[in-house]
Amino acid sequence: MHQPYGTGSMYQLLDFKIHGDLRGNLVALEAGADFPFAVKRVYYIWGTSYDAIRGKHAHRQLEQVILCLAGSCDFVLDDGCRRTVVHLDNPAQGLYLRHNIWREFTHFSADCVLMVLASEHYDEADYIRDYALFLHEVAHD
Ligand code: TYD
Repeated sequence: MHQPYGTGSMYQLLDFKIHGDLRGNLVALEAGADFPFAVKRVYYIWGTSYDAIRGKHAHRQLEQVILCLAGSCDFVLDDGCRRTVVHLDNPAQGLYLRHNIWREFTHFSADCVLMVLASEHYDEADYIRDYALFLHEVAHD
């Protein structure tokens, strides 16, 4: 991984190598080389209205890489102390999130397609869906 996840950083934007030629572009992602976990689950999201707010949760263990394959959207990230907004609009970048980051995503363009690579199978017990509980858990992490 060429860009380290800096201490105190809420997220990492991974820049993927584009194998482009006259035919167009191709990005290939390999676990361990391009992002730091083995993928157990992939899901994707599209057809979301501009003002919809998805997410509104944090994960206790899960790591994810979020790819905006088409269009754009905004990710609001919160580590319990600070809030920041990351605008995703580049299919050659991945937003790498570790655990204990509250995320809300919104402002979806009509053509937005998100694909998420996840380190674990779906497990509702890994979700923190209450913001006050999230603040409590990160304070005692
Ligand atoms: P939800 O957690 O609300 O999605 P988001 O965080 O993007 O707003 O999930 C919507 C529904 O899909 C909910 O019923 C749970 C289900 N779901 C799965 O079954 N497997 C999965 O991997 C995910 C992410 C969601």
